[in-house]
Amino acid sequence: MKALIIGSGAREHAIADALASSGSELYGFLSNRNPGIYRQCMEFTVGSVTDAQSIKKFAEKTRPDLAVIGPEAPLEAGVADELLKIGIACFGPSKALAQLETSKSFTRQLLEKYRIPGNPKYRIFGNKSSESEIKDFMNELGKFVVKPDGLTGGKGVKVSGEHLQSSEDAVAYCNDILRTHSNVIVEEKLDGEEFSLQSITDAETVVDCPPVQDHKRAYENDEGQNTGGMGSYSDSNHLLPFLKREHVEQAHEITEKTAKALKQEIGTYRGVMYGGFMLTKKGVKLIEYNARFGDPEAMNVLPLLKTSFAEICRAAAEGELRKAKAEFERKATVCKYVVPKGYPENPVTGRIDIPEKTRALRFYAAVREQDGIIYTTRSRAAAFVGIADTIENAERIAEQAACMVRGETYHRRDIGTRQLLQKRVQHMASLK
Ligand code: AMP
Ligand code: GLY
Repeated sequence: MKALIIGSGAREHAIADALASSGSELYGFLSNRNPGIYRQCMEFTVGSVTDAQSIKKFAEKTRPDLAVIGPEAPLEAGVADELLKIGIACFGPSKALAQLETSKSFTRQLLEKYRIPGNPKYRIFGNKSSESEIKDFMNELGKFVVKPDGLTGGKGVKVSGEHLQSSEDAVAYCNDILRTHSNVIVEEKLDGEEFSLQSITDAETVVDCPPVQDHKRAYENDEGQNTGGMGSYSDSNHLLPFLKREHVEQAHEITEKTAKALKQEIGTYRGVMYGGFMLTKKGVKLIEYNARFGDPEAMNVLPLLKTSFAEICRAAAEGELRKAKAEFERKATVCKYVVPKGYPENPVTGRIDIPEKTRALRFYAAVREQDGIIYTTRSRAAAFVGIADTIENAERIAEQAACMVRGETYHRRDIGTRQLLQKRVQHMASLK
């Protein structure tokens, strides 16, 4: 099978590996010369992944059997719509279906309309809403979060008591958002532990990958700014230390019902529905959906696939997922990202030496290769994934590899350590 990959981060490197190891011939439309991807491609080009017309032209020339769209930006730009027009099957939803990620108000309203459990208390405000309406709702909630209605890279969310010290602050932030977005969402602040459930679907069948927990904060002990994700882990029993089977089932049910609701509202969703869920004392709640694999979470689950990833993508894209086999090894994984010093606010760019031979899997992220030398760009540089029977052993493998990187970089040593896992379990136990 000829597969076209769109995107060039570590997630797409993991997708490329999984497609290549299931026998696909790869073609790449990349935003960076990522050496982990372009070296595996029969042909590749570097361009803007939101330029749907250029991607269509590249696809017309290379005629892939399937396109796999990695990031959210090309989904929002309607790349799947353009490729479907020229008869190329897509693993990744149309622009309209990608609203699942690109419009938080769409998703909250969809769950409400179809009576799907998982929504926190929320309200959507627009330019016509009055300040007193907004304030009244904030008072009703007590603790709340404010988020822009659109793609923000996880960085636009502000929490009362943390980023927003008073209701004046909060209303001012809503007004700020409304200058650039048509809606702002105010919702109940949930308390609990977050987990990612990435489900592959063709709207009829929903296949879950093992649940993963990501770490958004830049520094150890969950301090510092929010980032795209500094690392993540999964467990050999396909649960998490704080998460039981029944919780995964609750999340699965939310995703299954949402896929059916989308089909009634818009059409058949083909690709990944990645639920960012929170386990609370009152059960599983939905923070948001993403319309793609997680980055880093893809790197925890794709290397565990025992069955053909290419076949799963093709089956999902053609509406035959029920016929495909998806089995994951019962192993634990720990992924650690190495990022430039100063990331996410003021990342330095420069040469980086990434070890070739370690016991960990290695994925290149936002780096570019020039004359055999690898340079960081402004985002995460490389990720290492340890795979073992226990999270502890997987952590050691990932940590050892991350320590071997040379350059102006840092990583979080605490991801996957017993101490941090215990903190998560204790947090869950302490909730009232
Ligand atoms: P989002 O952009 O919706 O993924 O939000 C980014 C992050 O903000 C999430 O990963 C959560 O950590 C936090 N967050 C978003 N919504 C809520 C909420 N209702 N309660 C508590 N935390 C939230
Ligand atoms: N891990 C966060 C994301 O992929 O959005």
